[in-house]
Amino acid sequence: MCGIIGILGSHEVSPQLVEALKRLEYRGYDSAGVATVDASGRLDRRRAVGKLVNLSDRLVHDPLPGHSGIGHTRWATHGAATEANAHPHRFGRVAVVHNGIIENFRDLRAELESLGIQPQSQTDTETVALWTGYHLDQGMTPLEAARATLARLEGAFALAFLFEGEPDLLIAARKGSPLAVGHGTGEMFLGSDAVALAPFTDRITYLEDGDHAVLTRAGVQIWDAAGRQTHRATARIDVGATAIDRGGYRHFMAKEIAEQPAVIGNVLNHYLKGDRIVLPEGLDFAAIDRIVLVGCGTAHLAGHVAKYWFEQLAGLPCDIDVASEFRYREPPLSDRSLFVAISQSGETADTLAALHYARDKVARSVGLVNVGTSAIARDADLALPTLAGIEVSVASSKAFTCQLAVLAVLALEAARARCRIDDAALAAHLRDLRAVPALIAQALALSDECRVQADWLAQARDVLYLGRGALYPVALEGALKLKELSYIHAEGYASGELKHGPIALIDGDVPVVVLAPHDALFDKTISNMQEVMARHGRVLLISDAAGIAAAGDGVTASLALPQGGGIFQPMLYAVPMQYLAYHTAVAKGTDVDQPRNLAKSVTVE
Ligand code: G6P
Repeated sequence: MCGIIGILGSHEVSPQLVEALKRLEYRGYDSAGVATVDASGRLDRRRAVGKLVNLSDRLVHDPLPGHSGIGHTRWATHGAATEANAHPHRFGRVAVVHNGIIENFRDLRAELESLGIQPQSQTDTETVALWTGYHLDQGMTPLEAARATLARLEGAFALAFLFEGEPDLLIAARKGSPLAVGHGTGEMFLGSDAVALAPFTDRITYLEDGDHAVLTRAGVQIWDAAGRQTHRATARIDVGATAIDRGGYRHFMAKEIAEQPAVIGNVLNHYLKGDRIVLPEGLDFAAIDRIVLVGCGTAHLAGHVAKYWFEQLAGLPCDIDVASEFRYREPPLSDRSLFVAISQSGETADTLAALHYARDKVARSVGLVNVGTSAIARDADLALPTLAGIEVSVASSKAFTCQLAVLAVLALEAARARCRIDDAALAAHLRDLRAVPALIAQALALSDECRVQADWLAQARDVLYLGRGALYPVALEGALKLKELSYIHAEGYASGELKHGPIALIDGDVPVVVLAPHDALFDKTISNMQEVMARHGRVLLISDAAGIAAAGDGVTASLALPQGGGIFQPMLYAVPMQYLAYHTAVAKGTDVDQPRNLAKSVTVE
């Protein structure tokens, strides 16, 4: 997956392209490139490997004139992160940027080779440029050439085409991958999302699956998958909500961790009015017999925590799966199921595909998303915003706890609607939930202690995380965060599973992080912790004051979280998971906000 941008502007376009790409770097940062057409119609490009800053430097030394252009930031799928594989890809009179995967590119390439056309890169994308250039050379117009190429493509794509001699033309197409058209005054824009276009315009038209479009400075013409000219609505987006700044913190992640009390407070104020749960019409938990939660990465783990809440609080059977497995295993669904796609970006390809698979088979589909303008928000029957505000750091922190906050509200509503709890019990749970932002504010004070422990973790080759019940998925999240940010191998296990294999890994060199709030499962988890210590394992215990006192001696270190939050404690325990990973990454000197090989929004399968 990658980020793409296109501009038909009225100024020098390269700086604008780079500014927009900065907002799309969350989609990948293996290489970046821009192509422009200048006033004389000359098409040219600049590309650079690595972060966008390398492209900016290149443009300083080797500027690219022109008021029309396309740009790209790449997350490598086919072919290494080299300049030859960087977009835009060019052949003859056309340059192309692409997000997605052209699945039949090998066949398309072989055919080109038989026509005597040799690819210069290892990418799937280049075949799009080669075929379009070939069609142009056969005498087709740009639109005919693009259409002839599009007709051959299989897979998922968002594409932008720029043509030599055509300073007032961009052609766009989407199938699977999202693409937004921005309307300016005498200017037109194209981008992978509205956030990229926010510096230029707040008027956005989303292309729908199978659409292709012709942009000129006068406007946009759109054709649907059947080739009929069509109209797509234009909406205004909230540009203010797309502001991006570090607010004095060294990293976006540190800022985003610290924002959690405020943003979770916003979530609760949005969905709770006094003792009343306020949800949009159409969510009838009494009418369903099953809930299916699907997501990827951290979003999936939020669903995994919520499974405990839906089952324990509401007695509602709950399936949870990673989207990439769910979508292909053809799970039976019924019209008494509620399907929930959980996604920060709302654009994750597998989660979107899972939603598309499920939405006609279930009673209702819900998108639990942080980006309100995203594809999942638009394609689900109902979008529930997670209101975390823009999250820039690739590793998710506040988006995770805000997802948990909305899921907690849903679980309470399910319990209420299914008559599993009375008013008094509901009020008690709501009190616990409302206490979470203040408890997290206290938990933020653990940052310094986590920094101390991080010096220890940073030396480790492997780290294990153990948790039980709803703390088990938090242990998984702790391990995921550490891997993502510090590149240290880490695994999360259900505490009770330890003796069924992972215990063989325990020795004096493997730190074991044990999550054990002083609750009904405490003694069981502590027994597992003792099994670790009996084998010379070194334990970092995360509990509350009562738990740390009851656990006795023998742990290498402990971190005390405040007591409270009831069954919503997993939200609290997420904080030391975030800080341990953050400080370990800082200690190791890795790129905290943009870890290697990752991207924030994964728009390919
Ligand atoms: C990527 C990110 C993860 C994120 C996952 C799901 O892998 O690196 O941090 O949890 O995608 O993203 P989503 O936007 O669907 O929540």
